[in-house]
Amino acid sequence: MSAPAVTAGLDKAPTTHPRLLAWVREIAELTTPDAVVWCDGSPEEWQRLTTELVDAGTIVPLNPSIKPNSFWARTDPSDVARVEERTFICSVDEADAGPTNNWMAPGEMKRAMTELYRGCMTGRTMYVIPFCMGPLTAENPMFGVEITDSAYVVASMRVMTRMGRQALDKMGDDANFVACLHSVGAPLGPGESDVAWPCNDTKYISHFPETREIWSYGSGYGGNSLLGKKCYSLRIASAIARDEGWLAEHMLILKLTSPQGSVRYIAAAFPSACGKTNLAMLEPTIPGWKVETLGDDIAWMRFGPDGRLYAVNPEYGLFGVAPGTDWKTNPNAMRTLAAGNSIFTNVALTDDGDVWWEGMGEPPAHLTDWHGNDWTPDSAQPSSHPNSRFCTPISQCPILAKEYEDPRGVPIDAILFGGRRKTTIPLVTQARDWVHGVYLGATISSETTAAATGQVGVVRRDPMAMLPFIGYHAGDYLQHWVEVGKGVGGDTDKLPKIFYVNWFRRGDDGRFLWPGFGENSRVLKWVVERLDGTGEAVETPVGFVPAPGALDVSGLDVPEADVAEALVVDPLEWRSEIPQVTEWFEKLGDKLPAVMWAELDALKARLGID
Ligand code: GTP
Ligand code: MN
Ligand code: MN
Repeated sequence: MSAPAVTAGLDKAPTTHPRLLAWVREIAELTTPDAVVWCDGSPEEWQRLTTELVDAGTIVPLNPSIKPNSFWARTDPSDVARVEERTFICSVDEADAGPTNNWMAPGEMKRAMTELYRGCMTGRTMYVIPFCMGPLTAENPMFGVEITDSAYVVASMRVMTRMGRQALDKMGDDANFVACLHSVGAPLGPGESDVAWPCNDTKYISHFPETREIWSYGSGYGGNSLLGKKCYSLRIASAIARDEGWLAEHMLILKLTSPQGSVRYIAAAFPSACGKTNLAMLEPTIPGWKVETLGDDIAWMRFGPDGRLYAVNPEYGLFGVAPGTDWKTNPNAMRTLAAGNSIFTNVALTDDGDVWWEGMGEPPAHLTDWHGNDWTPDSAQPSSHPNSRFCTPISQCPILAKEYEDPRGVPIDAILFGGRRKTTIPLVTQARDWVHGVYLGATISSETTAAATGQVGVVRRDPMAMLPFIGYHAGDYLQHWVEVGKGVGGDTDKLPKIFYVNWFRRGDDGRFLWPGFGENSRVLKWVVERLDGTGEAVETPVGFVPAPGALDVSGLDVPEADVAEALVVDPLEWRSEIPQVTEWFEKLGDKLPAVMWAELDALKARLGID
C-alpha cells in the first residue's frame, strides 16, 4: 500500500527539528491520514477540537453555568481501564523485562504493530503533540512528542501536559524526545461514518525502553492513550531513572505545614484507586494544620546538591477517580472541578447538564448513565463506571503549592507506602531504616481495583505501587532503591524516612475501622512528630507503630476500640503473610537484592518462625 501523494498539512511543519520531521513523515506515510495537524495548544485549538468532538458525538458540553467549558465523554464499554495484559516492555533482552512484565522482542513487536498501523489513520486526522513532562524551565526539560488520531487524546493532553507551541519552541532543532505513537486503530473507509468512541478489540501498549519509544494501539482510554502519563512518566522514565540514578515513582507529593509553621514535604505511593489523589488534596480535620498539593499521581525524585531527594510532579493536570469524590471526602477536588475546563469520562449526566457519580450524596431522581441509558436510583447498576475519571487542570486546585512550578522540586522528608487491605496491615507503621522501608515497599499488598481490567478485590504484591509501571526487571528496580538508600557520599541522614499506611482495614462487620480522608491528617501529624523526634512509638515485629495515646484522636468521632484495632499488629495474621511474600520474592529470582531475603528472615525470627 502506498501513501497518498499529498497528505494535507504534512509540509506545513512549524519546526525544523530533523529527527522529528523525519519521524512525522514516516508515520504519516505508514498510517495514511487525510491530514496532519501540528498542535499549538492555543485556546482556539481547544475550541476547534472540542467542537469537532461534540459534533462527532464523543463528548457532550456540560451546562456552562455549572461547569464552564467542560465536557462529558462516554467510552466504548470495552475501553474503560488500563489493559495490563496487553502492556509490553520490549527490551532487547527478555531478562531485562523481568517476571512481572509482558515481553516481546522489539523487532518482533515492531513488525507486528507496523502491520496494524499500516493505513490505520485513513479517513482521520493525524495530530502531532509536542509536550514536556515537568516544568519547561528545567535544566534538562523532558520532552515527548505524541502522534495520535484521537482528538479526545489531544484535548486531554492539553490538560495533562505542558504542550504545543511552548514545548516545540523549547525543543529547538536538536532536543531529545520520547517518540509516542498512538492510534485508536479504526480507519474509516470512503463515506464510512464514524462511531462516537472509535477503538479496536486488538490492543497493544508497547514500550521500548532502550530506544525510549512508546507504541500504543487500539484504546482511547486515558491510561492507555495519554502517553505522557503512565507510559512515559513511569515506564520509560523508570528505565531512564535507573540509568541516571534517580527515581520515577507512582507517588503523590504534598506540602504539610504545622500550626507552628514548620514545613514538611511528603511523597506517597499507593496502588491505583487507593487514595493518592485524595491524600494529595486533603483538608486536615486537626486544627492549625495545612496541606498543599504538589502532585497526585507521579513524582520524579532526584538528588539535589545538598544530598536530599527532590521531587517534581511531571504532570500539568489531574486525572482522578471520580466515584467517591465529594464535598465531604475531597472538597478541594470539587472546587478544582467547579472551575471548569474539564473532561469527565464514564460518569453520569444530570438532567441540568452537570455530572454525577456514586459517592456524591443522594442521587438525583433521573440521570443518563455512563452507557447513555436512563438511570434512576432503583437501577441495579451504578450510574458511573467505577474507574470513571475527571481530567482537570492542576492550576485550578485552590491549594496548589507555590513550589509546583519550581523545576528543582521540593525536598522530601517522608515517603509513605500503602495499599488497600481489609486485614493485617496497621493504620501506620514506621520502617526501622531505609532497607527495611524498601522491604515494606517491595512487599506492598493490595486488593485489585477497577483501575485496570481484570478481577477486583484480589490481593496481589505491588512493589512501591509500581507493579504495572516498572519499565524493567522488578528485582533490578528494588536493587536501584537499595542503591538510592546509600545517599550522596554515604550521607543517609538526609534521606526521607519511610512509613507504611493502610486506610482500608475493616472490622468484623465490614465497616472501615478508620474514617480516612481528612482524618488521615492525624496520621500525617504522627509522621511529622516522628521526623521531629517527639512522636511516641512502640516497636513491633513489623516496625514502629504509634504508642497508646500517641496518635492525636481529639475530637475524632470513632470508637476508641476501632482506632486500637486499626493499629493492631497481630502476629498470627502476619505469619500467614510469610508464604505469600516468600512466593513473591522467589518469583523475582536472582535479581532480588539479597538484603530483601535478609529482611524477610529477620521478620520471621521476630514473629517466632524458624
Ligand atoms: P489512581 O489515580 O488510579 O492512581 O488512584 P489514587 O491512588 O489517586 O486513588 P483515589 O485518591 O482516587 O482514591 C480511590 C478511591 O479510594 C476513591 O473511591 C476514594 O473515595 C477512596 N479513598 C481515598 N482515600 C480514602 C480513605 O482514606 N479511606 C477510604 N475508606 N477510602 C478512600
Ligand atoms: Mn495512578
Ligand atoms: Mn489519582
